[in-house]
Amino acid sequence: MYTSTIATVATFTLGAAAAPWGHFGWGGWNGWGFNGGSGECMNDAQAQQVANNFKGLISAYTNDLANAVLTTDVQDFSDSVIELIDGGCPSSSPGPAPYIALGSPTFTSLATFEAGQGGQPNITFNILNVWHNCDTVTVRWRGPMPNPGPIPPPPAVQEQVTGIIVLETSFNGWQSAQPFLIQTIYSEFNSGAWLYDLGIFTPAGCSGSARRDAVAQALPAGMGMVKRS
Ligand SMILES: *[C@@H]1O[C@H](CO)[C@@H](O)[C@H](O)[C@H]1NC(C)=O
Repeated sequence: MYTSTIATVATFTLGAAAAPWGHFGWGGWNGWGFNGGSGECMNDAQAQQVANNFKGLISAYTNDLANAVLTTDVQDFSDSVIELIDGGCPSSSPGPAPYIALGSPTFTSLATFEAGQGGQPNITFNILNVWHNCDTVTVRWRGPMPNPGPIPPPPAVQEQVTGIIVLETSFNGWQSAQPFLIQTIYSEFNSGAWLYDLGIFTPAGCSGSARRDAVAQALPAGMGMVKRS
């Protein structure tokens, strides 16, 4: 139902999949140098593996996958997810719990992640870009159909949701099938579009320009908004 879709969204902050990359032996070359001795820098393939792991948690979730690719103390931070959990309502709303305050972690351990994710629907998750340094992977992604339905019923045409996730990892040893485990997740995305797809937010005045232009006047140019002249 509605809540289960929301929980899926919350889950969105994690990710791991049966990555086809295999494991990389210690002492191999990576993009930053030779991984011998004290070097613990991931290479491009290992960063892609981390990104694919995250994708798997969203699009093909199993507890085995979560156990394999997340640290036991994994934490997730996402005001975008909290906005969805709260149904677009301010956390000060008087309605029944749970309302979660913006800025709160959405998950604080592997156990709470699995409890939230178990049984949630899988959602198509396309990776658009992957960047990395030695221990952190940044992923730009897009979900073309964020509401798998049938409850709540999705709109005739769903708005895509695009987001950016920063995945801080913990080195797990070169001999491991997962040399870099996801430890901290910072995830933000277009929760406005997702609320639309879930039918929670129904925009008004879409056939006119007055409201759109008023909003444009309020947005900072630094966010890329082209203001009405
Ligand atoms: C999600 O995908 C995984 C892997 O294919 C599958 O085992 C799991 O049952 C799916 N979850 C749901 C809720 O369909």
